[in-house]
Amino acid sequence: MHIRLLGTGAGGGFPQWNCNCHNCSRLRKGSIKSSARTQSSITVSGNGEDWVLFNASPDIRAQIESFPPLQPARKIRDTGICSIILCDAQIDHTTGLIIMREHDKPWDVYCTSAVHEDMTTGYPIFNMLSHFRGVNWHEVSTEQTPFEIPKADNLIFTAVPLKSEAPPFSPHRHNTVAGDNVGYKVEDTSTGKNLFYAPGLGTMEDHVLEFMSNADVVLVDGTVWTNDEMSRHGISDKLASEMGHLDQSSKGGIMEMLSGLEKPRKILIHINNTNPILDEESDERKQLDALGIEVSYDGMDINI
Ligand code: MLT
Ligand code: MN
Ligand code: ZN
Repeated sequence: MHIRLLGTGAGGGFPQWNCNCHNCSRLRKGSIKSSARTQSSITVSGNGEDWVLFNASPDIRAQIESFPPLQPARKIRDTGICSIILCDAQIDHTTGLIIMREHDKPWDVYCTSAVHEDMTTGYPIFNMLSHFRGVNWHEVSTEQTPFEIPKADNLIFTAVPLKSEAPPFSPHRHNTVAGDNVGYKVEDTSTGKNLFYAPGLGTMEDHVLEFMSNADVVLVDGTVWTNDEMSRHGISDKLASEMGHLDQSSKGGIMEMLSGLEKPRKILIHINNTNPILDEESDERKQLDALGIEVSYDGMDINI
């Protein structure tokens, strides 16, 4: 399986257009050892030709230009993306569907019924796309039922319900339902290897830990170092936990949880621009390095 990390930043990307935080300002000045990151999305392929897009970010246009296998090559209007899977209905994970409205046929979109509800009510992108070529919705079960996708040769997908938060515009914002947020296991039947991908993880639960322990590669929520990171920077008084993200540094946080896993390669993704780990020379980054936890970057390729 080929895995390409198209966008490794959280919502807003790095630098964020209106952000003057310690990281964003230093990146603009060229005084930080780091690199810019677009918004959260990966793509996977079992055959190297047909690609499943996980999450459609507002930066999808630049992301496609950065990765030739997704570009038109077979006919006048064309793409290497065969289907789209959504982890949730957040703006950074779905707005790319609007950017990709010119597709020459309905998009095959795989998501839970909870996400479908958001996409037809609070953020009605599916309704809007019905005025273009439309969406072929494939319902993803929250019962951890493995499924296949046409053209995605050798790949088997399983959605894993996660505790996180529904988006601010969701009808279930204050009453989260199963399927508001899912991670995905992607198994390659030809190599026997599997990826576990969860860009938004609010609470560590036993069933999630089990998927992670058995994965060859874990790509997991790297949004913030501390739960109060936004207020520390004077940006907002919202805690990361209120946005459905488990921080890295606290007791029981992502770092401690990952360091206990023996089998998988451990990689953080969906990194917010305020997170000190974006600075490759920071103490926080050194702590991760010492534990063998990687920080992803745009354009990173993984083959398993
Ligand atoms: C999140 O993951 O919490 C979202 O990316 C926030 C956003 O995009 O507004
Ligand atoms: Mn996000
Ligand atoms: Zn910033």
